[in-house]
Amino acid sequence: MADADIINGKAFAEGLRHRVSEEAARLKADHGLVPGLAVVLVGEDPASQVYVRNKGKQTVEAGMQSFEHKLPDDTGQDELLALVHRLNQDHAVHGILVQLPLPGHIDEKAVIDAIETAKDVDGFHVVNTGKLAIGTNDAMVPCTPLGCLMMLKDKLGSLSGKKALVLGRSNIVGKPMAALLLKENCTVTIAHSRTRNLADECRAADILVAAVGRPRMVKGDWIKPGAVVIDVGMNRIDAPEKGEGKTRLVGDVDFDAAVRVAGAITPVPGGVGPMTIACLLRNTVVAACSQKGLEAPDL
Ligand code: GUN
Repeated sequence: MADADIINGKAFAEGLRHRVSEEAARLKADHGLVPGLAVVLVGEDPASQVYVRNKGKQTVEAGMQSFEHKLPDDTGQDELLALVHRLNQDHAVHGILVQLPLPGHIDEKAVIDAIETAKDVDGFHVVNTGKLAIGTNDAMVPCTPLGCLMMLKDKLGSLSGKKALVLGRSNIVGKPMAALLLKENCTVTIAHSRTRNLADECRAADILVAAVGRPRMVKGDWIKPGAVVIDVGMNRIDAPEKGEGKTRLVGDVDFDAAVRVAGAITPVPGGVGPMTIACLLRNTVVAACSQKGLEAPDL
């Protein structure tokens, strides 16, 4: 059998960002509306700093306003909540993202609960989580699973009746991914660290989404021939072959083996990763439209 198609998330994300930019330009020309995204970073986590910088840059490149709030590691919860409340009231801000993880002394749930649900472009607030769970169309959907779904639909067209396995049950990826696949009429299994016969469960799936954060855990012979594999993993491992002290990114799937079995697969890097920020920009445009009473674009 031929090797799997490689799903080019970078190109897909570029296409989505282009559509978002066009929509932002139209909103400005027709309605004087410039969508605004506020990103809040507490502390100095290097990976979070990179993400926040990229979010700000891509927001501006899409013709939208970016508001960055960088707070020191010892910021108190009350101070952070006060900032969220100010952003909730600010009419130039249509989307609010508080970068996770937050320092240990801050209650993440209390902060997420404080975000105005209409501005919750991460889709982490319980109101948006609940809307997604009951399948209404006005939920803000978390960006990473939304990006995965877009790529799956692009590859497969209708997902109806397919067997989907989601490996991982996080609130950020696994659970919303399962809800989205169920809404598309898939038969959905959520597997996790206590699942028995994991390899057999995976092998039954037409669609496999791996989001466990374990480098190359999913082996080639766990994959059903022809299945579509979406690898959400971003694991940094030592890469002595690149030189001493060097590292590289690998997914949750053993790509080199899986590519010989799957029908299509996302690489790491260059698969799911670039889609996350593109979906964040998309959610910000949709949020801005709904806050202004305008019909949300189909992006
Ligand atoms: N940290 C890692 N991924 C995310 C994300 O999608 N949103 C937020 N707020 N924090 C993150």
